[in-house]
Amino acid sequence: MRNKRHLWSFKNFENQFDKHILNSIPGYSESWWYSINLSKSFISNKTVIYDLGCSTGKKTNLIYKNLKDLKSLEVIGVDIEKSMINYANKKYSNKQTKFKKCNLDKLNFKKTNIFFCMFTFNFLSREERFKILKKMYKSLKEGGAIFYADKVIDENSSVEVLLNQIHSLWKQNKFSASQILQKQEQIRGIMQPIKENELNKLFKKTGFKKNLILKNLNFNFYLLTKN
Ligand SMILES: C[S@@+](CC[C@H](N)C(=O)[O-])C[C@H]1O[C@@H](n2cnc3c(N)ncnc32)[C@H](O)[C@@H]1O
Repeated sequence: MRNKRHLWSFKNFENQFDKHILNSIPGYSESWWYSINLSKSFISNKTVIYDLGCSTGKKTNLIYKNLKDLKSLEVIGVDIEKSMINYANKKYSNKQTKFKKCNLDKLNFKKTNIFFCMFTFNFLSREERFKILKKMYKSLKEGGAIFYADKVIDENSSVEVLLNQIHSLWKQNKFSASQILQKQEQIRGIMQPIKENELNKLFKKTGFKKNLILKNLNFNFYLLTKN
């Protein structure tokens, strides 16, 4: 009889998470560096920022530190995992930074200047992506922006295979071959990447204008603004 498949979860992963994601996603630090440094161009008198799928809150804290001199700033980190939010609250909450445990599907956004949506929508279905992107469009202030990073599937299946092979090779700097295989098996069906073309259609359908800022293997980082 086969053993039950152990599925990937972010629950109780807060102590390992920051190092793990850095070693798993090529271009992770660069995407964050660009988004943090671009964010100053999208602020207003009363700046509201969401970090969607904030995990440990480490990057949410970076957003806060970069903009903390603003007169009016509210940074809200949101994650579905209670253990992540407890960790973030203990370590990084302050007068201007709050963390909230919530499913993005259920959340009503305030009028917002900037959404950070970094490597989170990979875990949502097409329908959830569409529903949440529509809500974000409605709540985004004129002149606001979304920083959006996602793993995509290449249109060309041979290229897709090659990119995945190179990604696995790249990860071997930090993980053993069996760790890489184990994660691939655990995350199958949990991570739900869509084709690049479908993602572009989704942006268009929800009304966003997209600019691809960085592409590293299958990881795309976009700046989305209102059309
Ligand atoms: C790969 S991590 C991204 C972390 C962070 N954005 C970063 O760039 O370091 C994805 C996070 O999204 C959260 N998440 C997944 N689905 C969610 C949902 N429906 N609502 C809220 N958070 C969700 C997970 O719990 C996890 O912490």
